[in-house]
Amino acid sequence: MADKGTFYITTPIYYPSDKLHIGHSYCSVAADTMARFKRLTGYDVFFLTGTDEHGQKIERRAQEEGVTPKQFVDRIVAGIKDLWKMMDVEYSDFIRTTDKRHEAVVQKIFRKLYEQGDIYKGEYEGWYCTPCEAHWTQSQLKEGKLCPDCGRPVERVREESYFFRTSKYQDWLIQYIQEHPDFIQPPSRANEMLANFLRPGLQDLCVSRTSFTWGVPVDFDPGHVVYVWIDALSNYITALGWGSDDDALYRKYWPADIHLVGKEIIRFHTIYWPIMLKALGLPLPKQIFGHGWLVFGGEKMSKSLGNVVDPVVLCNRYTSDAIRYFLMREMPFGADGNFTNEALLTRMNADLANDLGNLVSRTVAMIEKYFDGRVPACGETTDTDRALRTLAEGLAAQVEQNMDALQFSLALAEIWKLVGECNRYIDLNAPWLLARNEAERPRLGTVLYHLAECVRRIAVLIAPFMPRTPERIFAQIGVTDAGLKTWASLQGFGALEPGTRVQKGEALFPRIDIPKELEALAEAEKLRKPGDAAAQGAPAAETAPAAPDKPTITIDDFAKLDLRVALVTACERVKKSDKLLQLTLKVGAQTRTVLSGIAGQYTPEEMVGKKVVLLYNLAPRKMRGIESQGMVLAAGDHDTFRLLAIDGDIPDGSEVS
Ligand code: MSP
Repeated sequence: MADKGTFYITTPIYYPSDKLHIGHSYCSVAADTMARFKRLTGYDVFFLTGTDEHGQKIERRAQEEGVTPKQFVDRIVAGIKDLWKMMDVEYSDFIRTTDKRHEAVVQKIFRKLYEQGDIYKGEYEGWYCTPCEAHWTQSQLKEGKLCPDCGRPVERVREESYFFRTSKYQDWLIQYIQEHPDFIQPPSRANEMLANFLRPGLQDLCVSRTSFTWGVPVDFDPGHVVYVWIDALSNYITALGWGSDDDALYRKYWPADIHLVGKEIIRFHTIYWPIMLKALGLPLPKQIFGHGWLVFGGEKMSKSLGNVVDPVVLCNRYTSDAIRYFLMREMPFGADGNFTNEALLTRMNADLANDLGNLVSRTVAMIEKYFDGRVPACGETTDTDRALRTLAEGLAAQVEQNMDALQFSLALAEIWKLVGECNRYIDLNAPWLLARNEAERPRLGTVLYHLAECVRRIAVLIAPFMPRTPERIFAQIGVTDAGLKTWASLQGFGALEPGTRVQKGEALFPRIDIPKELEALAEAEKLRKPGDAAAQGAPAAETAPAAPDKPTITIDDFAKLDLRVALVTACERVKKSDKLLQLTLKVGAQTRTVLSGIAGQYTPEEMVGKKVVLLYNLAPRKMRGIESQGMVLAAGDHDTFRLLAIDGDIPDGSEVS
């Protein structure tokens, strides 16, 4: 197929503050589907994803777990990469904001904007939502001093900061948005930005922080780190090498064709990002598409609400193709959609097991039965055949049109029209009746040829959505030639060679007993299955087998650990932390203070009097201004874990060996 040029698509870079849930997968699956579709239709595609690793929230999470921020994010990022592998999210590059290549360019951007007067130093006072990493003015807050995005309490902050003079670019941006109706999609989001933020007047954006250190340092003013949105948004060009010695990718792929983002971050992408680019003298992305959220009973899925769905559990149980299909089919892209297990299973049964699965298995079974497993020749055609052909031939264009509008769900609905028509065509032509009459043999051949060719076409059409299923279908209808798997092979009707050998295989998607499965799934979601935790970067759950093996050590290595029995003599919560308890430990004649991230599992009252196992010779670390002198040992998942206990009355101070 002729090369249609380049296509650059991005996902937001995810916060590795926790493992990702199905809502995050939604965005990545959409971007991957689009990337695959563009590749299949002849584009040279660059698909970027990554992680947004700096900021106070990550710094706090790491402190609570007693590890460095880098160690913390490394573990979560490994889990995210595993998840994308599992879900066949095939990116061209994965950018981490802790990559040196990124940090160096962010410093360069900050300095340039400062030197040209777009960034100035001032004092920031306002409200800050740590989980969202967002600053708010008094008037933007929800009643009760709550974050307008996530509804959680915000904090009052005041500090010396650098500001980005965004107000200077406001009129230019209003005009740009008005003159480029495709720039922000869906159009309702553009109106929202104009009405709520741009027309009322932009406030200069605070772009540095002094209250935490986990960020890209402002190189000309130590003590300041670049505030996350300047850092984060730049990823779309730093990954392409802009500002580095090798900017070939930037020159080839920028401006991006689509930045895919969730609706709550469209403001940053359609206001601050274009202004940054304009100030840097760079072209703007062609389109920013704000999609809706997967919601659970009307609430956005979120860890703190306890309503997250783990994509790993679902993919392990139903295959990632089925989950990808559901995500792209169930809700119109752009709107919010309710996620329920019941809706998922119902769709799998109806669309995948019944409609698609039955079509493939009936077609192959009939060719085996009536034509010795060889695709028959196509004879004279009737009106019904021609109607089916017309539908099939027009489909590629229909799908392209819907995909170009990011209407994944409509594209799939079009493809499933053909699936449905093929099933009706079987019922209408009743091949089993034709088979009874030798004179009808050519007609039987024509009917089965049409079905086999349609099945081949369906396999090609669904490939961007369900990367694994097409090969399973091709294997059953005997397609091995790569030319018959291309988008170009959809032109005309009849690329499938008569005589091709079919081979019945396993059911593509077995039917599910929904009530039974709903119960089993609820159980599985409670107890994450073996290996799942590792796949998502969390420590292994209590019921899970061992985490991946570490290298073997000698007894001398073990001897380096000084483990002691310690008695908790006092315990209190650490201020402003949900996770940390401060323990006072008696270790023989010594007293130690240890901070431990166990506040979710233990109350201070129940801790006093417990004997715990202490890693006594761990280098001390300051957390929240308090020096923690050792680490208390625990086992389990990072949500459900228990402390190690001593079996019997062993005095504190005793060595553990
Ligand atoms: N780090 C920022 C993005 C910076 S991009 C320069 C961020 N990260 S995030 O991890 O909180 O969210 C990443 C994306 O996941 C967002 O687009 C967000 O909308 C999306 N989703 C998070 N929960 C979601 C649902 N429940 N449903 C759909 N998308 C959801 O924001």
